[in-house]
Parts: sequence; structure tokens; C-alpha cells
Amino acid sequence: DSARKGGFDHYMQKEIYEEPDVFYRTFNSEIDPDFISELKSAEEICVIACGTSYNAGLLFRYLMEMHCDTPVRVEVASECRFFRPRRGSVVIAVTQSGETADTIAALNMAKAFGCTTAAVTNVVGSSVTRVVDYSLCTRAGPEISVAATKSYTAQVAVFMSVLRELCNGSIKEDLDEIHKVIEDALLVDVSEGAEMCAGASDIFYVGRGLYYPVSLEGALKIKEITYIHAEGYAAGELKHGPISLLCEETPIVAVCTMDVSYPVMLSNIKEMKARGAPVIAVGTEGDEDLDDVADVCIYVKKSTPLGEMLAVIVVLQMLAYQSAVILGRDIDKPRNLAKSVTVI
Ligand code: G6P
Repeated sequence: DSARKGGFDHYMQKEIYEEPDVFYRTFNSEIDPDFISELKSAEEICVIACGTSYNAGLLFRYLMEMHCDTPVRVEVASECRFFRPRRGSVVIAVTQSGETADTIAALNMAKAFGCTTAAVTNVVGSSVTRVVDYSLCTRAGPEISVAATKSYTAQVAVFMSVLRELCNGSIKEDLDEIHKVIEDALLVDVSEGAEMCAGASDIFYVGRGLYYPVSLEGALKIKEITYIHAEGYAAGELKHGPISLLCEETPIVAVCTMDVSYPVMLSNIKEMKARGAPVIAVGTEGDEDLDDVADVCIYVKKSTPLGEMLAVIVVLQMLAYQSAVILGRDIDKPRNLAKSVTVI
């Protein structure tokens, strides 16, 4: 077993370190041009998924909203039976295992309504690939750790390459070397943040725009493997309820890179501090103002907006991982969780 971990303490850690290659391989895989044509003529794209895959789907929605005109809906697969898919929709299931019962049930319903279907999956030949019109494979290789890391990054890579095909002209940044930001992110020191998280019973993860779905995934990851109660929130929603829970014992992980949301995030952090909450800010290297407002700063290297987003994803995975190491959890096999859930 330790040989298979390749010198790493846990599969999760090994799988995080594989992400630069996984992202590169997946992002540069060809996508069926017929599928891209279907998307171009779709009235709506509907993404269905569970768990981490849902968070990847929500990120796709934000990316599409920034760069393309086609509306994207994202639904939790187990709730799909309450929503009638629209004719003319392309339905994309996201499922690393390709076996999740809720996701396959929702896909079958979409097919019955005459929708075009596709799956983003990590397992070639899995059940989902036999149901859909198009398969988009993530090239993550086998993922042993129950908590998804490299398979999530690979899902994001698929969505970014779909985006590149669909709305090439509107993406202004150079994506050829973007996987290198993940290599840099692996060097970021998250230990101080992990110490703070490991000592907490409740943590809020907040961000705006792309960093809202990224925060949901950060919170899900730490919850899965540390058993600490963590919630991801749109930073602007915190004042509509959760702010009543803020105190010295509830750290906030606030993603505050120097993107369009920066000024408002900075003022949100000040509001949280004013309620006594310790803040772990994830920001852009070179930002000196963040040091003045946050208790702990974790910096990713300055890059393009999509590059910094990928770096933040990896940093939040490492934060969860290191917190779980401090707590001595069974990281690769957290209690009550399964890698694929084949019951409804
Ligand atoms: C389980 C796993 C999660 C995963 C979810 C969806 O709950 O523990 O890590 O995100 O299923 O799995 P899927 O294979 O459909 O992506």
C-alpha cells in the first residue's frame, strides 16, 4: 500500500500532487465537435450532478455567464424529478464515478423528454457512458481517496476546454501554460490556516463570483475529511443569517484575490472581523492590504483570473488535507462516505 502511495502519506495528498498533469491532459483532450455544435444550438444547458461534481457544474455556470450567452442551469441530481427538463436543452451529467444512481435517474428522465445528453466522467465504460449521447472524459486516472480532488480539477478542466471551444473570442487570457499555476500552488504554505481550522467546530467559506462555487467545494472538502461543520456561502449572503453565528470561535475562510470583487470582499472581511470572527484570507501575492485586515493570509501567485482560480482550488484542497492530518483523521476513508453511491 505504501508503495502505491508513491512516498506520500495518503492517497489524497498524492492525488492533489497529480493535478498539474491531470489538468494538462484533460484540458488538452479533444472534444467531439458534434457536441460543441449541439451546445451552440442549445436553448439551454442543464447540468445535473451530486456533491463535488455539482460544485464543478456550478463553476461552469459562472464561467459560461462570464463568457457566453447560452443560459446554464445547475440542478442537484436527486431533485431533478421535481423539474421538467426543457425541450431543446442539452443535459450534461457530471459524475466522476459514472455510477451515481441519482445522476443516472435524472439523465434517463431527460432522455425521455427528448433532450440531448452528455456525461463528464472519469470512468470510461461506466454506466453513465451507456446512457448518454456524448461522453467527455476526465483524464484523472483512478482516484483512490474517497474525497474527490484531482477528479474535480479534471472536471473543471473539461468545462474550461468546452468554454474555449464555445466562446474562444471572449476569453482574453492565454490558457496554454495555465496548468503551471497548479504546480506553483502546490508550494503554498497553508499550515497556519490549517492550525486555525483544525481547532474550530464551525467554519464558513465565503467568496463571490467564481469563488462562490469554489468556496462551496472548499467547505465540502474540509467537512468530508475532518468532520468539522463547514459551510460555503456567497459572501454577500452571510449578512442574511449566518452573521448571527459569527464569534471568536468561528473562523472564516475568505477568498479575496484581486479580481473584480476585491473591494467588496475586503469590506466583507472587515464586517466579519468586527463580529470577532478570525479570518483566513486567500489572496493574491503582493497584496499588502489583506495583511492588515485578515488574521492569516494565504497567497497564491499572481496570475490571470482563471489561473488564480485554479490555484485557489488547490490551496483549499491542501487546507482541508492538512487540517485532517492535524486531527489525525482517516483521510482516505472518511466515515460514512463512499466513493460512488449507487442507491437513490
Ligand atoms: C459521493 C462521493 C463524493 C462525490 C459524490 C458524487 O458522495 O463521496 O465525493 O462528489 O458521490 O459522485 P460522482 O461519482 O457522481 O461524481
